[in-house]
Amino acid sequence: MSLKGKRAFIAGIGDDQGYGWAIAKSLAEAGCEILVGTWTPILKIFTTSYSSGKFDKSRKLSNGELMEIAKVYALDASFDSPEDVPQEILENKRYSAASGYTISEVAAQVEKDYGKIDILVHSLANGPEVKKPLLETSRSGYLAAISSSSYSLVSMVANFGPIMNAGGSVLSLTYIASERAVPGYGGGMSSAKAALESDTRTLAFEAGRKWNIRINTISAGALGSRAARAIGFIDKMINYAQDNAPLQRDMMSEDVGHAGSFLLSPQAAAITGTTLYVDNGMHAMGVAVDSPAFADKPQGAPE
Ligand SMILES: NC(=O)c1ccc[n+]([C@@H]2O[C@H](COP(=O)([O-])OP(=O)(O)OC[C@H]3O[C@@H](n4cnc5c(N)ncnc54)[C@H](O)[C@@H]3O)[C@@H](O)[C@H]2O)c1
Repeated sequence: MSLKGKRAFIAGIGDDQGYGWAIAKSLAEAGCEILVGTWTPILKIFTTSYSSGKFDKSRKLSNGELMEIAKVYALDASFDSPEDVPQEILENKRYSAASGYTISEVAAQVEKDYGKIDILVHSLANGPEVKKPLLETSRSGYLAAISSSSYSLVSMVANFGPIMNAGGSVLSLTYIASERAVPGYGGGMSSAKAALESDTRTLAFEAGRKWNIRINTISAGALGSRAARAIGFIDKMINYAQDNAPLQRDMMSEDVGHAGSFLLSPQAAAITGTTLYVDNGMHAMGVAVDSPAFADKPQGAPE
């Protein structure tokens, strides 16, 4: 698969552990030029770590060269334009040195710097009350989860669509809690992922007709990224998947990286509006085979 001559903007890279990084790496492996959007409060730590060589081991491509990030932009996907940024954020010391980090400003800057892009990746989510059950979630916490984690995709497609080449492709990341109850994934984050998946279908139609671009989402298995560790129960979810998924292998960020770069490539030219499960088959299970109810072994399970 060659993506030589293609250019990608990947939003939601803050270190080398998450799904955004793995997608960037797989795209770079195929020859794609990489631009990154990093959450404004962690921009400095990310760029310092990148330039000091902290990520060099994980930047290594199969030909021995290091993945190059052409430019890192400060981005806060909770804001569409400068008028949306509240005073307390403007004065926050982790934002005060940065500027131009709202979605419309970043899209305009990318166009100014590089012209058009071919690929857009949304690999970000945030729910301030994610540790609270839905029943205890406040209205503002719920709306903040939807704003950062779902509307951000709508806004990114609306703002970057006009600077995407026809035939281009957009990808986001979702989670099975959108369609099945996953206790512990609270604060309205399950609702946010349900919205993201629904919007993927509607945006696929609208942006397909308007700009001839494709929009898909990957429902990814549990991975111990920085964001997932902040939720708190990720190790349990990783163990649960290992015990219950059809494939008994570790979930690697590269699994999503490779599937993502396929969906973003011209080889997936007829695939749009879809949710692709990349989770070792966990979504296909209807029972937890490690339940004590199956102490002997589940009926029909192979010897
Ligand atoms: N890790 C998992 O188990 C898992 C499973 C399924 C789906 N996902 C999804 O994968 C995506 C990437 O997450 P990850 O787990 O790789 O973690 P990650 O920490 O690598 O990525 C999340 C990024 O979102 C950024 N972010 C948060 N709020 C932002 C905002 N307002 N504006 C811009 N950036 C913001 C964070 O700084 C971080 O860099 C998310 O959508 C997540 O919900 C993760």
